[in-house]
Amino acid sequence: MLSHDPDTSPRTALSLDPEDWAAFRARAHAMLDAAIDKMATAREGRVWTPFPDEVRDRFALEETGLSPDEVDETLRALLPYGVGNTHPRFFGWVHGSGTPSNLLADITAAALNANTGGRNHAAIEVERLLVDWCRRLFSFPDAASGLIVSGTSMATIIALKTARDARLGFASRTDGVCGRKLVGYTSAEAHACIARAFDMIGLGTDALRKVPVTRDHRMDIALLTQAIAEDRAAGFDPFLVAGTCGSVNAGTIDDLEALADLARAQQLWFHVDGAFGALGMLSDRLRPRLKGLERADSLAFDFHKWLHVNYDAGCILTRSERDHLGAFSDRPDYLKSADRGLAAGGTWPVELGPELSRGFRALKVWAQIAEHGADKLGALITRNCDQAAYLADRIVETPALELLLPVSMQICCFRLVRDGLSATDLDRLNAEIVVQLQLQGIAAPSTTRIDGKLAIRVNITNHRTRREDLDLLLRETLRIGAEL
Ligand SMILES: Cc1ncc(COP(=O)(O)O)c(C=O)c1O
Repeated sequence: MLSHDPDTSPRTALSLDPEDWAAFRARAHAMLDAAIDKMATAREGRVWTPFPDEVRDRFALEETGLSPDEVDETLRALLPYGVGNTHPRFFGWVHGSGTPSNLLADITAAALNANTGGRNHAAIEVERLLVDWCRRLFSFPDAASGLIVSGTSMATIIALKTARDARLGFASRTDGVCGRKLVGYTSAEAHACIARAFDMIGLGTDALRKVPVTRDHRMDIALLTQAIAEDRAAGFDPFLVAGTCGSVNAGTIDDLEALADLARAQQLWFHVDGAFGALGMLSDRLRPRLKGLERADSLAFDFHKWLHVNYDAGCILTRSERDHLGAFSDRPDYLKSADRGLAAGGTWPVELGPELSRGFRALKVWAQIAEHGADKLGALITRNCDQAAYLADRIVETPALELLLPVSMQICCFRLVRDGLSATDLDRLNAEIVVQLQLQGIAAPSTTRIDGKLAIRVNITNHRTRREDLDLLLRETLRIGAEL
């Protein structure tokens, strides 16, 4: 028999915990200071800086067993090379800007290190309470259910699989779609995550009909009605319509009331992609424009966009827990519930989506709402809309600039114009202006096409942005344009 326990003997002990907790505490405090320094100076310096090769090489993992100091130094070296969305002049795509206080929730979640696939523990309860808050925010019924997920792309897959299975009486879980010609509808301006979900749930992207938009970039309801009739006549089985509450190109909102009416009349599942727009529900200005959202069968939206929760966090809400469970619930022996103990508790998150192991995303969402409050978060959304309208006004009064579409919410699309340039050359000029704004570290808009024209696209989902940042953007756009 061994005279000592090899698991605790100082000579042979093998553990990932620090040997010296006091030294670890000092390390952690230093790292926290570096993180806070970065956030306290978010307004300063370049918006985006390309990742230098010499820093990249330090992550090649050719060397292991680095000392804690070496690891920490390498981690700190990474801090200047984010995507730039913590900076007030990050205007690309649709990114939230994060908050310093979210770091604290992330530290708590990391310390708990909870697996939220199921079981009976605090994280599950916090997530349930958050989902219930969302249910009430969107006036969904008591029978609704939801799950905190990585983002709207994942939420959409869950929603569309639930819709598909509900249409097929859930037999599709074992039998597949068995040749049923299910088709769905969304607008030509809808985000690509809807087509991707069609691909992933086995219907194929062709089964998603892209309905043209009206001049104001909202789904054309007359053409939608016509498309459904034509599909039925051709032997297809229309099962879903996906409305957009905040389109990715221009921030437009489909007529959600009309879509809800049509879905009911045509017996379609009514899904809404509200990736950023749905949380307009917190804004006194936007709330009236979201009428009809409360009638959705499923809603996908993000906290990491307009709620500024640190990446990543989104949500899927479904109107009927019965349908949601019908599409995902599966409790093999090793995941069965017990009456008491750690395996107790009602529905487990694993029954509401494809993931078993998952982290505690709900905590940082809870902390954001608990600390800043729905009113302040909503006021910041309204302010971003005011800022986009201000930018549009400045563009309209500047002869060298063209506003490509009226501002609907927080996205403003425009371009520089110059007499004598062909359409192709104008596109090239504006694309280069965007690249130069990014490379010079001045601002980070992105590009898209509006009615065929390449647009400088400014999305403002940023609580740090001020009007002076927008003035600077226009000044620098004109300067770079004149230099090119
Ligand atoms: C309208 C819309 N839908 C869906 C998405 C995808 O969301 P996520 O990136 O959180 O998966 C986005 C992302 O910008 C979006 O703007």
